[in-house]
Amino acid sequence: MWFGMVSLFPEVFKALSDYGVTGRAVDRGVIELDYFNPRDFALDEQHTVDDKPYGGGPGMLMKVQPMRDAINAARQVRELSRVVYLSPCGQRLDQEELKKLAEFDDLILVSGRYEGVDERLLKQEVDLEVSIGDYVISGGELAAMVLVDGLTRLLPGVVGSEESVERASFFHGLLDYPQYTRPAEIKEYAEAGDVPPVLLSGNHLEIARWRHKQALGKTYERRPDLLTKYDLDEKEKKLLEEYLEERSLN
Ligand code: ADE
Repeated sequence: MWFGMVSLFPEVFKALSDYGVTGRAVDRGVIELDYFNPRDFALDEQHTVDDKPYGGGPGMLMKVQPMRDAINAARQVRELSRVVYLSPCGQRLDQEELKKLAEFDDLILVSGRYEGVDERLLKQEVDLEVSIGDYVISGGELAAMVLVDGLTRLLPGVVGSEESVERASFFHGLLDYPQYTRPAEIKEYAEAGDVPPVLLSGNHLEIARWRHKQALGKTYERRPDLLTKYDLDEKEKKLLEEYLEERSLN
């Protein structure tokens, strides 16, 4: 998957290209990041990329021309690219939206700085606005990185086994079940309880059942809003009841 990153700070994307899952995906050519800095397209000697908002008010906006030329330069590399603008005013990102976006071969991700961009540029150049949550961060770059990371994980062959993507939080709309690793006993964490014996039993069917039950219970307790979207089948209803009974006994 190809990403045209339109940003005044291309260096920050090193965090994607140099580390971890996304870094390996770059090395293996599964994803490709190309950079288009609006400052390189500014026409004056100072390379100005911002200007005052009409009507006054605090802060500056990004100028249209350098931004438009940077987007168009990205379009010249991949003509059919969708243009995504990262903004708290956008559609909220979730796993479903990620799956839809992962179907595209190319995306141009536009990161804003300052107080944002001219509305006309959004209307004419941008296909989709995406928000990573109901809070404001200082620019679109971190949001674009969240998007690239989430998409990369969905591409075939990126995460070790297909299964671990599927097991991850939010797959099937449930939160992840609790996990434990060695040692089986940690004296200082006695209050947190023991490793659930079923996990040490080697009985894979029972382990899968326990994990499913915990995922349902945790989602019910922490994110009941997710369960309303989730169609519990009879087996899951029973698992959740069991979870709640066990909880009330403890
Ligand atoms: N830019 C600033 N805040 C943002 C957010 N919440 N999502 C996407 N882009 C942003």
